[in-house]
Amino acid sequence: MRNPHKLVIIGAALIVCVFVFLYTFKMEKVESRRIEIRDNWFTPNSLPVVADTLHFVSTKSNTTSGGDRDAFIQHLSERYGPVTFVSIHPQSTVLTPEEQNRSVTCLRNAVKDRNVNGSRFWGREEHIRTTHHTYLRNKDAVMIEIGGNRGDDATEFVKLYNPRYIILEPLEEYFKLLKEKFKNNSRVTVVNVGLGIKNEVAMVNIEGFKADATSKFSGTNGKTPLYITNATKFLMNLGVGLFDVDLLTTNCEGCEYEVLETILSTNLINYIKNFQFATHSTLRGLEDPLGRYCKIQELLRRTHKPTYQYRLIWESWRRNDLL
Ligand SMILES: *[C@@H]1O[C@H](CO)[C@@H](O)[C@H](O)[C@H]1NC(C)=O
Ligand SMILES: *[C@@H]1O[C@H](CO)[C@@H](O)[C@H](O)[C@H]1NC(C)=O
Ligand SMILES: *[C@@H]1O[C@H](CO)[C@@H](O)[C@H](O)[C@H]1NC(C)=O
Ligand SMILES: *[C@@H]1O[C@H](CO)[C@@H](O)[C@H](O)[C@H]1NC(C)=O
Ligand SMILES: *[C@@H]1O[C@H](CO)[C@@H](O)[C@H](O)[C@H]1NC(C)=O
Repeated sequence: MRNPHKLVIIGAALIVCVFVFLYTFKMEKVESRRIEIRDNWFTPNSLPVVADTLHFVSTKSNTTSGGDRDAFIQHLSERYGPVTFVSIHPQSTVLTPEEQNRSVTCLRNAVKDRNVNGSRFWGREEHIRTTHHTYLRNKDAVMIEIGGNRGDDATEFVKLYNPRYIILEPLEEYFKLLKEKFKNNSRVTVVNVGLGIKNEVAMVNIEGFKADATSKFSGTNGKTPLYITNATKFLMNLGVGLFDVDLLTTNCEGCEYEVLETILSTNLINYIKNFQFATHSTLRGLEDPLGRYCKIQELLRRTHKPTYQYRLIWESWRRNDLL
């Protein structure tokens, strides 16, 4: 155990979030989408604490006053001492003249970069998106995947590193499939939501080979609901800020832009050690993907640097203090 004190804080943070999540998470047309972190998700030693907390949550969460949260915080502080909270706040996304200039260059080269980089990536170097992340071997590593789909990447991540792993998948059909696939792995938690700017339910059509191109951007008059939740709120409820996320990886058919822009508009970005994303810039219905991509590059550059980059295809960035 690298740092037991830190683990307790992480544990406490996640417990807070489980509670806050169960307590506050409501969406249009969806009564509740729960995070059920498995009993021994943190470390083998934290099992009784977490089990007890889940009990506490389920017996207390039905009364709807803020008093519950206070009671929960009191409960936590009796166990762990004072619970610390960090301030998550908005930050400027206005580019400086220098950043603006670089983003103009980025835009000029965008289509060429995408063609050149795409032809190297697909079918040849694409496994880099899983093999690159060897730091996940640390048994305390926390990883979040936005857009689990059928779990092809997740299977590789689990095989390679078996991190503590939260998979978000908005399509119910795939959510069920993922849950079944990883039901024996207590380090994996699957949640039936996607992330975006705000809470919404988009009615979409299942598209693409094995539905891997289903997206709210390709039309919202379909029959299948996609559950999307406010990315900032979700990550805050999860307790991000009290602990760092080792890897946030995003492959969600165009939702990457919203997820990146949302996270980059607050200091939550400072708590993401590695941020990997696909781009899907040719998806129809997506507003100004190239311009947004180039702006995202500049915002991300303030805190992170790329560790590999196939521009407008797939890339991963690491926080400056870790380089
Ligand atoms: C929770 O509250 C609802 C209505 O507010 C009530 O119908 C239900 O019985 C309560 N459940 C428990 C377990 O107390
Ligand atoms: C940005 O580019 C313009 C013209 O291309 C140049 O005049 C200006 O000095 C540049 N600004 C910065 C901050 O690099
Ligand atoms: C991406 O394409 C550019 C040329 O447009 C090239 O300079 C760069 O090396 C490529 N990157 C990768 C990782 O292939
Ligand atoms: C889970 O474990 C059970 C019992 O060991 C086994 O029968 C089953 O095949 C496993 N399921 C998966 C999806 O690995
Ligand atoms: C998302 O959640 C954050 C934190 O609760 C809130 O400040 C923000 O206004 C929300 N965004 C939208 C678009 O609802």
